[in-house]
Amino acid sequence: MPQRSVVEAPNPFREGLRFKESLEPCVMVIFGATGDLTHRKLLPALYNLALEHPLPAGFSVVAFARRPYTDETFREQALESINNYSRQKPVNPQVWESFASGLHYLQSNFHDPEGYVKLNNLLNKLDQERGTSGNRIFYLSTPPSQYPEIIQNLGAVGLNRNRKGWTRIIIEKPFGHDLSTARELNRQVAKVFREEQIYRIDHYLGKETVQNILVFRLANGIFEPVWNRRYVDHIQITVAENLGLEGRAGYYEESGAIRDMIQNHMLQLLTLVAMEPPIAIDANSDSVRDEKVKVLHALQPLSGQEVINNTIRAQYGPGWVGGQQVPGYLQENGVAPDSSTETYVAMKVFVDNWRWAGVPFYLRTGKHLPKRVTEIAIQFKQPPLMLFKDSDAQGQVEPNVLTLRIQPDEGISLKFGAKVPGTDMQIRSVNMDFFYGSSFVREQPEAYERLLLDAMHGDSTLFTRRDEVEAQWTFIQNILDGWQSAPRETIRTYESGSWGPQAADEFIWRDGRRWRRP
Ligand code: BG6
Repeated sequence: MPQRSVVEAPNPFREGLRFKESLEPCVMVIFGATGDLTHRKLLPALYNLALEHPLPAGFSVVAFARRPYTDETFREQALESINNYSRQKPVNPQVWESFASGLHYLQSNFHDPEGYVKLNNLLNKLDQERGTSGNRIFYLSTPPSQYPEIIQNLGAVGLNRNRKGWTRIIIEKPFGHDLSTARELNRQVAKVFREEQIYRIDHYLGKETVQNILVFRLANGIFEPVWNRRYVDHIQITVAENLGLEGRAGYYEESGAIRDMIQNHMLQLLTLVAMEPPIAIDANSDSVRDEKVKVLHALQPLSGQEVINNTIRAQYGPGWVGGQQVPGYLQENGVAPDSSTETYVAMKVFVDNWRWAGVPFYLRTGKHLPKRVTEIAIQFKQPPLMLFKDSDAQGQVEPNVLTLRIQPDEGISLKFGAKVPGTDMQIRSVNMDFFYGSSFVREQPEAYERLLLDAMHGDSTLFTRRDEVEAQWTFIQNILDGWQSAPRETIRTYESGSWGPQAADEFIWRDGRRWRRP
């Protein structure tokens, strides 16, 4: 592997954790290149990288898909996507010209071996013409049922290895449908690619604010000493969405909130909050992922009745979201009228280790909630309040809460009690707030920008490792099994535009706590 140099950026939050130079030219082959993800996320991310970082001269994309397009039609569509979804607008004509000259289209079915022979020839030609030196990234952005045949076909024409350059494969979520299919997919990929070539993507790890969880914990002396069961009462992780299905009923019916959000994004947030400090955060040192996997292994497994007692699942009913009247989940196009797919999940989880024994982690996520917000709130234990027992103030003292706001309004706030000015003793909660937007002038890169760049650099720290994805599924599988045998009445309904079913409130009240209203 060639030497990479790392230079200090003047402000680490501006450029991500590291600002790297000397990116080697490569070709990114996108399977499923006419799909939504390519148009909304991948092409705009690549264009922004070309604009800002610059991508190396010669960087090329091969779009591998079934529709009968040409290079020209694909370029036109790419321009439209970038115009619609790019973070940086308007499109810069010079950057676009040079970026577009590297976009190529190859029409083929995913199962046709001939298509892979053509792909091989095209890649060799690009190596000659654009100097991409045999460096390749294959990006699987098709429906997951097609992953195995694409992987096998790549192997069959020898595209999994290259004597001249490096070869990597990025695999989109969902990675498996349950524990056994995830294991099977891992086995199939491992037959063709080595683990260090495999990049299982979870876009939450590319978000600046998610990466900042570790910086916040480990670069500041004052938080880590209280980051444990002695001081923390409980932790709430919320990923609320006001969006509904967005035309993805086919996918969502098979997935539901637990597979769509909890198995991947929310367990990533949980592991970053709960993990022990790693021995290094260098590219590919694996220490961060080692520590995350330990947390997943420490998750108290739920089984049988525990699943019913510790989780709430629900579907949205009709209601109003953002001033619009919306139908209930069961009335959505493409949803079975008797569907048991959940659009909301709340659960209580314990991390059975020395640091977190006895501290509940409450997770909740749902579609058609009142607003889009992702946050992690750490609520601390209260001090003894006997000094205030003779005044009204005792009832006014609220626990300290440290909130990491992942999105939107990215930032951090700390809630504490302060004396209301006046002659009597009144206490009110106030917030100390940090906003990314006001402290750092530059816009944050999109998650996919960061992750694509890392994959080009060969840094897999922010990607999910084989044992990690299997540990996530091991925990989730117990819940899926518990739900499978639970009566239909355990699937509640909530009004669209509300914060979830009443049962979720009662669930946390039983512990003497309440959900935050972010
Ligand atoms: C995706 C899910 O992985 O994440 C979507 O499939 C969800 O259902 C999305 O809407 C949320 O991502 P973000 O970045 O908007 O929080």
